[in-house]
Amino acid sequence: MMLIEPKIKGFICITAHPLGRQKSVESMAKHVIDAKRAGQAFDAAKLSHPSSSKQERRPMLREGLRALIIGGSAGYGLASRVVLGFGLKASTVNVSLERAAKAGRTASAGWYNSAAYVNMAKQAGLPCFDINGDAFDSEVKRKTIECIKKELSAIDILIYSVAAPKRKTQDEHGETLVYSSALKPIGKAFRTKTMNSKQKSIHEVEIPAASAEEIFATKKVMGGEDWESWVTLLAKENLLAPGFLTLAYSYIGPELTSSIYREGTIGEAKKHLEKTALLLNKTFAGRAAAFISVNKALVTQASAAIPTLPLYVSLLYKVMKEKNLHEDVSEQMLRLFSEKLQKHLQSRQENENEDVFIRLDDYEMRPDVQAEVKDRFLKIKDENLEQLADTKGYDTAFLNLFGFAVPGVDYQLACEENVPLSSLVE
Ligand code: NAI
Repeated sequence: MMLIEPKIKGFICITAHPLGRQKSVESMAKHVIDAKRAGQAFDAAKLSHPSSSKQERRPMLREGLRALIIGGSAGYGLASRVVLGFGLKASTVNVSLERAAKAGRTASAGWYNSAAYVNMAKQAGLPCFDINGDAFDSEVKRKTIECIKKELSAIDILIYSVAAPKRKTQDEHGETLVYSSALKPIGKAFRTKTMNSKQKSIHEVEIPAASAEEIFATKKVMGGEDWESWVTLLAKENLLAPGFLTLAYSYIGPELTSSIYREGTIGEAKKHLEKTALLLNKTFAGRAAAFISVNKALVTQASAAIPTLPLYVSLLYKVMKEKNLHEDVSEQMLRLFSEKLQKHLQSRQENENEDVFIRLDDYEMRPDVQAEVKDRFLKIKDENLEQLADTKGYDTAFLNLFGFAVPGVDYQLACEENVPLSSLVE
């Protein structure tokens, strides 16, 4: 038992509160359950019903599907697990890299998230399995395959939602190679405004251009190579269910962030991920359908690390909240799985098109939203920061990621940091 406080180091918080994360994951699940009950999501009549599930080869969403989520312990991956589990009664296998509590140190937020999901899912009778390890690692892949063979027989949907800082791999001589992803512009240095969240001030920063090695390494970590290897492995092991579909998450964003995002190192990796969707559709034609969901910019552990993005996100939140267009991570994933993906699958079939992009960033990219964000970005300075940007909303969302500032949690009380993950596959 210990008293747990936030300890923020740079763009990360090194402590996490289990009760805060439990409450947050519970409210994500409640949101999905309520939307379904109210008929606002997953209308049973609109869900696909295969005439013979064994023979049906059309990619589809249906109740009781078997989902493999790579990176399902936080952010968009966690929200996908919650929506598929509580919206579609999915059995889920999650592969993520998290830290258990040890010697007076809290576990990572993602560990508590998975524990919270698993407790609720088990009560609801939803099978769930967790593999804690490096998704790039072949041993972790082997363990996942064994788990699927034993527990689920096949996979209907694979979600690739990894946001990793580095990737370890081995060359042909068995030597370990480590690629680190960089968040830098390409070609020339980029000078822009940035926000110091702690001091509530605006500064200019210059981010140096990436080297050729950094561009290559970022593609290795955040491009589509590992997604492709997961699908290839499932296919090789005969674990692709008829109608198998797979999604990876990408971001495009506006001109304002393009030097650091879309035209930067991470953008190159995302373009590679997007090309991988086309490649997968070609290689596994008739056996797998791959899609890219282009999601909205949101506060997550991964996005907090991207230079200048916190300022853009704070402006975006304020504008989108004023226009009643704001969505959080579970609202985004609910719209993806209960509306956008189904419509996309239907229109692809009717029009026989090969479009792989699902635009969940449609509200973010609306011209009126972007014009307002840009106008505020040009005007922003220390004096008007809190008036033009949602700095409070940003701070709260950031603390919430780690289980802090969650209503209903008494942070003055000591709590048990050692939370078991009963679904852990050893
Ligand atoms: P996040 O930081 O909230 O979650 C990352 C997940 O990846 C966690 O489950 C973590 O355990 C897992 N992970 C990291 N390294 C791993 C490894 N080596 N092995 C296994 N699991 C590992 O990230 P977020 O923001 O949800 O990002 C997920 C995807 O969504 C990324 O592809 C990101 O680019 C994309 N995206 C994010 C947006 C945002 O604004 N946050 C916007 C649009 C797309």
